[in-house]
Amino acid sequence: MRVLLVDDDPFQRLLLMRALEPLGVEVSEARNGREALDLFKEKPYHLVLTDLHMPLMDGLELTRAIKAQDPLLPVTLLTADGEKEVKLKGLQAGADDFLNRPVDLAELRLRVKGHLERRRLQEELEELEKTLLVLVGAVEAKDAYTAGHGERVARYALFGAEELGASPEELEDLRMGALLHDIGKIGIPDHILRGDHVLTEVERSYIRRHPVLGDEILKPLKAHPRLRPYVRWHHERLDGSGYPDGLTDIPLLVQVVTAADTYDALTSVRTYRSPLKGEEALEVLEKEAREGKLSREAVRALRSGLLRNRALRAS
Ligand SMILES: [Fe+2]
Ligand SMILES: [Fe+2]
Repeated sequence: MRVLLVDDDPFQRLLLMRALEPLGVEVSEARNGREALDLFKEKPYHLVLTDLHMPLMDGLELTRAIKAQDPLLPVTLLTADGEKEVKLKGLQAGADDFLNRPVDLAELRLRVKGHLERRRLQEELEELEKTLLVLVGAVEAKDAYTAGHGERVARYALFGAEELGASPEELEDLRMGALLHDIGKIGIPDHILRGDHVLTEVERSYIRRHPVLGDEILKPLKAHPRLRPYVRWHHERLDGSGYPDGLTDIPLLVQVVTAADTYDALTSVRTYRSPLKGEEALEVLEKEAREGKLSREAVRALRSGLLRNRALRAS
């Protein structure tokens, strides 16, 4: 992990560098904000520790510049002033933490360690998400007609879930769950997935395994319990006619993903039928709701979410 230490006083820099030595992190030094930004261009850092008063560019300006580039990069301000006003200005600039001078070196080490740990976890999560998206891409590449399906379903489902007042955490789980809902198709032969013909009964039973396969694929993830309902139950229907579990009690947000999934399938091109217009697809969903297969609330939320975001497909 790399720390960028910014201070115009060489003695202070030396002191802090020595104090950080036991952490085994790589520390780069800069004498002011300008120099820090130059270093920042060369390689990424995981934490910035900066003095407040420096010539050329002070700590507040540096904080603002860094946060504009990478809002999640932790910035700790070293302040001698200790007054409330300085902290307020620092917070406004986007600083994450403050250390009062003279710096308590043991406290410095603990705080730096904490920030670096959180940054590492966050980078791991981003890495994981990238890996999962590569998998989604691999699935969608198996069938020319499903390119972008996961992202579209996630987008539509988010519109619907927002209408229902879902919390930010719920929205995040729903987004990932929707992106990954068909991940299990990676285990299904290409010729079945290609979508260029109406499926035979045997092929259909093969395809019906994808929610369970997806559930299995995601099992090692820590997020599995939160993503599982979307992946495993996106083909369930409220009258028990869905698969794989024949549920009749399905979480509302999962039904929103089901509605968004069906909507995208109906409005997308298949060689054996032409795509429906957005309005026509919604009518199909509403019919399913009347028949007791889909949640009326979920379908209604999808309709108003699509309209509000002007995302209804016109053709
Ligand atoms: Fe599916
Ligand atoms: Fe799907």
